[in-house]
Amino acid sequence: MKLTLSVIKADIGSIGGHICPSERLMDSVHNHVNDQSEGLLLDYYLSYTGDDIAILMTHERGPGDEKIHKLAWDAFLAGTEAAKAEGLYGAGQDLLKEAFSGNVRGMGPAVAELEFDERPNEPFLFFAADKTDPGAYNLPLYLAFADPMNTPGLMLSPGLAAGFRFVIMDVNYTEADRVIELNAPEDLYDIATLLRDTERYVVESVWSRGSGEQAAAVSTSRLHNIAGKYTGKDDPVMLVRVQKDFPATGEILEPYAIGPYVAGCMRGSHQMPLMPVQLNSGISYFDGPPVVSCAAFAMHDGKLTEPVDVFSNPFWNTVRGHVADKAIDMRRQGFFGAAMLPMSELEYTGIMKKLETLDDRFRVRD
Ligand code: F6R
Ligand code: MG
Ligand code: MG
Repeated sequence: MKLTLSVIKADIGSIGGHICPSERLMDSVHNHVNDQSEGLLLDYYLSYTGDDIAILMTHERGPGDEKIHKLAWDAFLAGTEAAKAEGLYGAGQDLLKEAFSGNVRGMGPAVAELEFDERPNEPFLFFAADKTDPGAYNLPLYLAFADPMNTPGLMLSPGLAAGFRFVIMDVNYTEADRVIELNAPEDLYDIATLLRDTERYVVESVWSRGSGEQAAAVSTSRLHNIAGKYTGKDDPVMLVRVQKDFPATGEILEPYAIGPYVAGCMRGSHQMPLMPVQLNSGISYFDGPPVVSCAAFAMHDGKLTEPVDVFSNPFWNTVRGHVADKAIDMRRQGFFGAAMLPMSELEYTGIMKKLETLDDRFRVRD
């Protein structure tokens, strides 16, 4: 049975600034999806991470399907009405186009989709992050799919022995999708060369070279490419199939114990550590720290089990403590140096106008 997993997410308003959506907003999105799902969806799951709402859907219509995307778009429109009625901050902020045109790509919401023949057992992970951008997944994906120091399966499992193909997108290129395919392990240094630049090169998908099957899909939208100005961070979603020909769940999760510094947090303009959090968590400290949640599922004939909240395990409390320490340490240096993103990433914000004004006041001494 060929199935599609689609996750479409958007920030359409939140309580207290950018903390989290309201119950009424969640209910209105949920009611819409529920009412429209008949004949389209096999199953769905709704959650939020920070101020972003994600609709995870299973169906048989393939990636990029107009009806599936419209269902999500209309659900976000319905949610926006609820957000406006409650005076939520940033109501409808990620819906950047007036009218739906076939597909949510390029319209604001983030999307990640996987199509595959369902295995007799089909475990997969759904990740959602807030106050950061898609490059946040570069390191975890590199470690999980290409580094035997992280993933012993690369040595121990025949299913993983052929390695993985990384499809990497240049997200600064605005004319069309500009992508490169690189193979681990032989292209390892080239993969690392690109992935270190998280604001430009983003893993879009990962494929098993042994079976040819797709392992991972990441949303790659750049809101400022669509809006031409800063309209919020590109809080990314990701789907990862696990076990058998793919890394084990624990191999995919291990890198999140690092709490790496990622782009985002306050005003989308800083470098702060990524904290693994429970499902349906808001944000707090310095509009952050950047957070990532992960729901594990099994599915059969497109029907999902209940989600397992993998970062709710007590192990991750220690990691959260470590990440909080890193976050506080970084904030001690305020705007200085590595604490903020480079100017090239801030150029869509108001700082460019300020620099222009200051430029007029510069004088060249004789
Ligand atoms: C992401 C997020 C931030 C804000 C950014 C700008 O979820 O909330 O990236 O979009 O801090 O916020 P405003 O619009 O309040 O200036
Ligand atoms: Mg926001
Ligand atoms: Mg957000």
